[in-house]
Amino acid sequence: MNLFDVYPRYDIAPVKGEGCYVFDPDGKRYLDLYCGHAVISIGHSHPHYIKRIKDQLDQLGFYSNSVKIPVQEQLLKKLGQVSGYDDYALFLSSTGAEANENALKVASFHTGRKKAMSFKKGFHGRTSLALEATDDSRNLASVNVTGNITKLPLNDIEALNAHLDDSYAAVIVEGIQGIAGIYESCPNFLKTLKRTCEENGVLLILDEIQAGYGRTGKFFSHQHTGIEPDIITTAKGMGNGFPIAGTLFSPKIKAWKGMLGTTFGGNHLACSAGIAVLEVLENERLMENASEMGGYLMNMLSRIPEIKEVRGKGLMVGVELEADVKEIRRDLLFNHRIFTGAASNPKTLRILPPLSIEKPELDYFISSLKQVLA
Ligand SMILES: Cc1ncc(COP(=O)(O)O)c(C=O)c1O
Repeated sequence: MNLFDVYPRYDIAPVKGEGCYVFDPDGKRYLDLYCGHAVISIGHSHPHYIKRIKDQLDQLGFYSNSVKIPVQEQLLKKLGQVSGYDDYALFLSSTGAEANENALKVASFHTGRKKAMSFKKGFHGRTSLALEATDDSRNLASVNVTGNITKLPLNDIEALNAHLDDSYAAVIVEGIQGIAGIYESCPNFLKTLKRTCEENGVLLILDEIQAGYGRTGKFFSHQHTGIEPDIITTAKGMGNGFPIAGTLFSPKIKAWKGMLGTTFGGNHLACSAGIAVLEVLENERLMENASEMGGYLMNMLSRIPEIKEVRGKGLMVGVELEADVKEIRRDLLFNHRIFTGAASNPKTLRILPPLSIEKPELDYFISSLKQVLA
C-alpha cells in the first residue's frame, strides 16, 4: 500500500526527541523551533509526560464516553484552574478542526441561526464548516461551500460594523493568526468584536488552537486583552503531541444529551497527556518562560538589519524577510540543523519553539540566521 500522497516532506526522519531537540537515525541533533506545527508545548519526551501516559497505559488505555472517566474530571479541574475559566464547560475531542466544528455547531444550536463570520487569512481547519471559515480556496471542494460564512478583513472595525448583525450565529477569530504569518487581532478590535457580538446576540468563538496553551505568555492569547469569549477552542499544545482538543463553553450555553459526540475524544490516555502538560506548564513556569524568552528573541531579531519586520507575542513569532523564505528554511535545516516554520505569507518564517526553550538555543538560532542572511 502507498500513502495517499498529500504532504510535501523534508528528507529527514526524526526518531527521537528530547526537550528542544529531535534526533535522526544517525544521532544527528536538530533544534526544533517549529514543533511540528506548534504542537510541542512542554518539550519533546518530557519525563513527567512519559510517566503519566505510561502509568495510565498500565491501567486502562481507552474506554468510550459511555462510562464515567475519572481522569477527565482531573483534567477539567486542572484546566479550569490554570486557564482561569473554571466556570466554563469543556467538550473533549481529538483535533483542532473538530473543536471548531463543534464550536460552530453549538453556536448554531444556541442561537437558532446558520450564518457565521470569519476573517481573511484566517485558518480554522480542513473539515466542513471549519474549512469554509478558513481563507484558503485551494482546499475548498464544492461540497464544502454552504455560503453561510462571511469573511471580513481582520482588524477592520468599519467593515465589522457594516456587516455584523443579528442574522449571525457566531464569529470565529484567532487571537493571533498563525498560519497566515503571525498577525495579531488588535486588542481594540477584539473588544469591539466582543461588544458588537453581545449587542446582536452573536456568539464569539476564539480559536486558540495555535496561540493558546501558554504560547504567548498568557494561557490564551485573548487574555492579553481582557475579553471573555463565549466559546474557546484549543488543541495543538494541549497534548504535547498526543491528539487531544477541546471546546470550552461559557455558562450561558447549555448542553443537552446527544448534542455533540465522539468515539475517541476525552479518552484515558489523551486526558493523562493533557494533565501532564498542565502540570509541567505550571510547575516549570513555562508561560513566564514563553514571555521572557519571546521578548528576548524578538529583541535580538529586531537588531538584524536584513529582517523587515518581527511580529508576535511570547514564543509565537513571525519573521518577515525581503524574499521568499523557502531557501532560508532549507539552509537553516540542512546546514545549521534548525527546524523553522513557513506561513501563507511566503516571506514569513514562523518560529514556534517548545515553551521550555532557553537563551543558548535562541542564541544559536540568531547566529545561524545571521549567517544565512549575510
Ligand atoms: C488556528 C488553527 N485552527 C485550527 C487548526 C486545525 O487544527 P487541526 O490540524 O488539528 O485540525 C489549526 C491547525 O494548524 C490552526 O492553526
